[in-house]
Amino acid sequence: MNIEGITLREAVADDLDAIALIYNSLWCNWIRKAGAWEDWALCGRFNAAMQLQRSPITLVAERNGAVVGACLVGVFENGAPVKNPRWQPVYEELLAKATERAETADEDLEGSLFGDSREKATADRFAATGDEYAQAQINLIVIKPEWQGAGLGRRLVEEARRRMGEEGRTKFFLMSDNRSNYHFYDHLGMARIAEDHSQDTGDNFIVYIYGGEA
Ligand SMILES: CC(C)(COP(=O)(O)OP(=O)(O)OC[C@H]1O[C@@H](n2cnc3c(N)ncnc32)[C@H](O)[C@@H]1OP(=O)(O)O)[C@@H](O)C(=O)NCCC(=O)NCCS
Repeated sequence: MNIEGITLREAVADDLDAIALIYNSLWCNWIRKAGAWEDWALCGRFNAAMQLQRSPITLVAERNGAVVGACLVGVFENGAPVKNPRWQPVYEELLAKATERAETADEDLEGSLFGDSREKATADRFAATGDEYAQAQINLIVIKPEWQGAGLGRRLVEEARRRMGEEGRTKFFLMSDNRSNYHFYDHLGMARIAEDHSQDTGDNFIVYIYGGEA
């Protein structure tokens, strides 16, 4: 795969489903395999909207009219995340639907719906401490599976860094965990600045906070 023909642009309303589809293909395929199509669609759309509404900087990678990746970046003011007004109403609507669905969902579906939101709560607690890295946050980076390994992730992170710099941010952080692709962040020169073991319920799940220079 050659990423030369890929353009980066801001996310528009029509991108929600495309980002949701990539999100689902990476993390929520089990719901589709179980045949719960409505839950699967809700999971991707809700989580994509949740990330978008806290990302004033949105980078969508497009090739021949198709979305092949995205990087969503938050910025913090006085220790709190700045919201993206374009996506706030979309998020509110999907939050209501996800909350209603979670009332009768089993533990696995509830986790797929709200796991990332809980991670954001951890991020916000970290940012509220006033840590020097809590100026901006890479909220989400996803590449369509067939486009992975072609240099697009690196390009998106480089562009995200440039845009954070434009916003006057000199450092940023992101959340990962010991079951995710955290080596990618090591490889791009970020440092693990904190670990959170509080979600380890005997299954050795450890949340990592990485910090980088914008
Ligand atoms: C992780 C992800 C964003 C990386 O993007 P990508 O386009 O596949 O990565 P790139 O091709 O741009 O790789 C850039 C560099 O990082 C390296 N790299 C990529 N993934 C890596 C990994 N998991 N571990 C270590 N290094 C990695 C590449 O070898 C490459 O090195 P080089 O430029 O020095 O040759 C992408 O694979 C993805 O979306 N994965 C699924 C979702 C995910 O894991 N998101 C982030 C974690 S929550």
